[in-house]
Amino acid sequence: IKKIGVLTSGGDAPGMNAAIRAAVRAGFYYGLEMYGIYRGYEGMIQNDIKKLDSKNITHVLERGGTFLKSARSDEFRTKEGRKKAYDNLKSHGIDALVVIGGDGSLTGAHLFYQEYGIPAVGLPGTIDNDLSGTDSTIGFDTACNTAIEAIDKIRDTATSHDRLFFVEVMGRDAGFIAINAGIGSAAASILIPERKTPVETLVEKLKSRTKARKTSNIVIVAEGGKSGSAQEIADKVKKHLPYYDIKVTILGHLQRGGAPTSFDRLLASKLGVAAVEGLMQGKYDVMAGLINNKLVYTPIVKAVVGDKEVDEEDLRVANILST
Ligand code: F6P
Repeated sequence: IKKIGVLTSGGDAPGMNAAIRAAVRAGFYYGLEMYGIYRGYEGMIQNDIKKLDSKNITHVLERGGTFLKSARSDEFRTKEGRKKAYDNLKSHGIDALVVIGGDGSLTGAHLFYQEYGIPAVGLPGTIDNDLSGTDSTIGFDTACNTAIEAIDKIRDTATSHDRLFFVEVMGRDAGFIAINAGIGSAAASILIPERKTPVETLVEKLKSRTKARKTSNIVIVAEGGKSGSAQEIADKVKKHLPYYDIKVTILGHLQRGGAPTSFDRLLASKLGVAAVEGLMQGKYDVMAGLINNKLVYTPIVKAVVGDKEVDEEDLRVANILST
C-alpha cells in the first residue's frame, strides 16, 4: 500500500478531525502518500480528491466537525455510482481507504471492498455509539458532555419555576446518549428505544417524586423511541397530570458540534494510527475500535449489525438514582 484515501461520511461527529489528522500523520510517518476525499462518498464519485500535506492537518485536532466535510450519498448506493468512485480512486492511484463514519458509511466501505477489492479500515465516527466492536464511538463522549451541559442549564430554569421538562436527545434508534446524559444530569426518568416505558409508569414515577417534594423534573427522551417524540409523550403526560407546568426542549444538532473532549481526542488519535497500521498489516474490511482500552479490529459486517446492547447496570443505577 502506497497511497491511502481518507474520508468522513454520514453525520459528522466531534473528533473526526482528530481521527483524520492521526491517520494522515501516521501515513506520513510510514512514508505513504495521503489523500483527502472531500464530502464522503459523494466526493469520491465527483472526484473531489486532493493530496494532503502536513499544512492540511495543522490545528484541526481540536476542532469540531470535519474539515474533509461529510455527506450522505445516495449515488454511492448504486452500482454505477460505485463504479465512478472506483475509477476516480484509480486515477489518483489510491489503493486503500480509511473510512470514518457510522454504520451506513462503514457498510459502504465493505461493499466497495467486496466489489472492487479496495482495502479499507473503518473508524467508528458517530455520536450515537451504536457500533459494536468498540466501547465508545468517536464523538459520543463529546455529545454526552454537550447534552449534559445543556440539561444543567435547563435544570436551573426548571427549578426556578417548578417545571417538568421533557428533553429530547439524539441517538437515532439507540439510547446511549440518553442513558449517559440522563444519569449525568439526575434525570427523573430516561426513555430509550431499547425499552418500553408505558406512559402510566412514567406518570406514577412523576407522582411519587412530587410526593417526595421534588419540585423540578427532567425526563430524557431518546429521539428514536417507540413511545413517540418528547412532544408526543409530554402531551400524553399532560392529560394525566394537568396541574404540571410542562415544557419540551429538543437539543438537536448542537449535540453534534463543538470541540472534542480529551476522551474523544485520545480515542480518535489512537484509532487513526490503528487504521493506517491495520492497512499496512493487511487487516482489510474491518473496523478499528477500543474494547477495555485494547485495540480490536472487528469485521465491518459484525460492527454494523446493530446488536450493541445498552448496559443493564447503567439502567439499574439510573433507576435507583431517580427513585
Ligand atoms: O447519526 C448521527 C445523528 O446525529 C443521529 O443522532 C440523528 O438521528 C441523525 O444523525 C440526524 O441526521 P441529519 O443530520 O442528517 O438530520
